[in-house]
Amino acid sequence: PVLLYNQITTHSPLARQVLPHCIIIGVRKAGTRAVLQYLQLHPDVAVAGYEVHFFDDNVNYSQGLNFYQRQMPYSLKHQLTIEKTPAYFHTLKVPERIAKMNSSIKLIVVVREPVQRLISSYVQLAAKRDHFPTFEEKVIDSDTDEVNENFKPVKRSLYYIFMNRWLKHFRLDQIHVVDGDLLIRKPFQEMFRVETFLGLEHKISKDTFTFNRTKGFFCLKLDDELGKRTKCLSKSKGRRHPEVDPNVLRQLRDYYRSANDLFFQQVHRRFRWS
Ligand code: A3P
Repeated sequence: PVLLYNQITTHSPLARQVLPHCIIIGVRKAGTRAVLQYLQLHPDVAVAGYEVHFFDDNVNYSQGLNFYQRQMPYSLKHQLTIEKTPAYFHTLKVPERIAKMNSSIKLIVVVREPVQRLISSYVQLAAKRDHFPTFEEKVIDSDTDEVNENFKPVKRSLYYIFMNRWLKHFRLDQIHVVDGDLLIRKPFQEMFRVETFLGLEHKISKDTFTFNRTKGFFCLKLDDELGKRTKCLSKSKGRRHPEVDPNVLRQLRDYYRSANDLFFQQVHRRFRWS
């Protein structure tokens, strides 16, 4: 069976806005939009259509939880409300602020092999500018030949640094880690796990996903008031990555190795990232 995008609730007189039951906190460029889009297929989920940036933005935060609640999608009583803002993961004050709102909230963090995530971040920055330096120029310090930690995306792949802060405020079993690499290849499998974590019935069907050769990624088969169609993520997702100098790739993998190990210990799970 092909699922419908869940947009009915907005029209119901019983629909209301509530604070989220779950937040996708990051990591930027690891597949966060895909997880949110797939969750939108579930009839018992209502997702915020845009990144809310409540906890990381001091101006938004100063407007209080009523303001935050008004940013949430309309939902029915049986539905879980979910928002995603990947900037939460690496922003210092956010874990404490979320814990203050709801210390038993569920959190989802999508991670991806750190070098691929770094390349993805670089490609996103380069896409917004003319004459952007090459990947190698950005990630390697030309004076020292060391990895350039001043380039922010480099640091943002050091997941353990940020995870450490979250674990000061939340139990590990409140934080579900999605394997962003597997999400690309086997979205159904990763989403099955997300449904389990959220206590949802398994309704995101394998048949909903269709591999799109042009896009090179899985897309969704939809059948709703707009008719039968395939829906892929936007053009800004699944961009072409540059070919990277193999020596630089090796240097980066070495650079992340010990950080990866620390992350694996934190989440009690290993990923094949070496
Ligand atoms: P690339 O564009 O570098 O390939 P985020 O949504 O957190 O910004 O993550 C973007 C990444 O999601 C993309 O990075 C892509 O690899 C990944 N992704 C996972 N599933 C995807 C899908 N079905 N379509 C497009 N991109 C997907």
